[in-house]
Amino acid sequence: MLCPVIYSNPALAEAATNLAARLAQPCLGLVAARDVAPATYVLALTEAGLQLQQTGAKAHGPVWVDFNAGSADHRRQYGGGRGQMIAKAVGLKTGIRPQVLDATAGLGGDAFVLASLGASLVMQERNPIVHALLGDGLARLGADARAELQAVHARMQLLPHGADSTRTMPRAQVIYLDPMFPAREKSAAVKKEMAAFHNLVGEDDDQATLLDLALAQAEYRVVVKRPRKAPALAGREPTLSLAGKSSRFDIYPLKKMPEGLVPA
Ligand SMILES: C[S@@+](CC[C@H](N)C(=O)[O-])C[C@H]1O[C@@H](n2cnc3c(N)ncnc32)[C@H](O)[C@@H]1O
Repeated sequence: MLCPVIYSNPALAEAATNLAARLAQPCLGLVAARDVAPATYVLALTEAGLQLQQTGAKAHGPVWVDFNAGSADHRRQYGGGRGQMIAKAVGLKTGIRPQVLDATAGLGGDAFVLASLGASLVMQERNPIVHALLGDGLARLGADARAELQAVHARMQLLPHGADSTRTMPRAQVIYLDPMFPAREKSAAVKKEMAAFHNLVGEDDDQATLLDLALAQAEYRVVVKRPRKAPALAGREPTLSLAGKSSRFDIYPLKKMPEGLVPA
């Protein structure tokens, strides 16, 4: 997908040029997203961070990773701790802090929640633009002066090179999968920013392989996030499901987690 790199300040020129070279995208220099044509999206390196921005006069808001503030930070502080469904799904509780491979990391929202609750995350993301957005968000998380955010950052490792988890699936105590589900085009609830993300990533069409490999490489369990009413991934019924308002966590247990479990 054509997604040129632009920047908002001459001081960012070198970093933007390097990023464009790494992603094999053109670097258009110091321009505003609204003035870029014919690309639909640009990657804008700004003082705030790296942002996927729509071009044109009626552009929607940017897609970017912000763990330091906003909804991610709010959920970290007031989101309900280990009582949250995602924590229960991966088996995280007092005395059990597994190492989780998030093999479809996306923008890292779920990984950040789990790391905030004490799990150690290894993340893999195959789309190079999404990988760059996540890497940028993690760098800003690590640069935050607050000790609690630095501790969360220390538990989050993004594997380099944007590997595809259907080819390379590292071993882990728990493997978490959240592949793309077709966007509900007609639903007003699908925010424009999410539609942009769908546009960028497309469909993930090799989900049976993903699940097979995860089941082979996980020690204790595989957890799959699905929209609440969606069929099970690749038609494989889980042993257990936890359903919330909009999502569901399907759990494929392999072995009982022992008390005191921490990353090996
Ligand atoms: C729905 S998003 C994940 C959202 C993520 N859970 C979050 O909280 O931000 C799915 C992501 O998985 C990535 N993905 C899908 N299949 C993959 C694979 N085989 N290897 C690596 N990444 C994959 C896609 O590129 C996309 O970014």
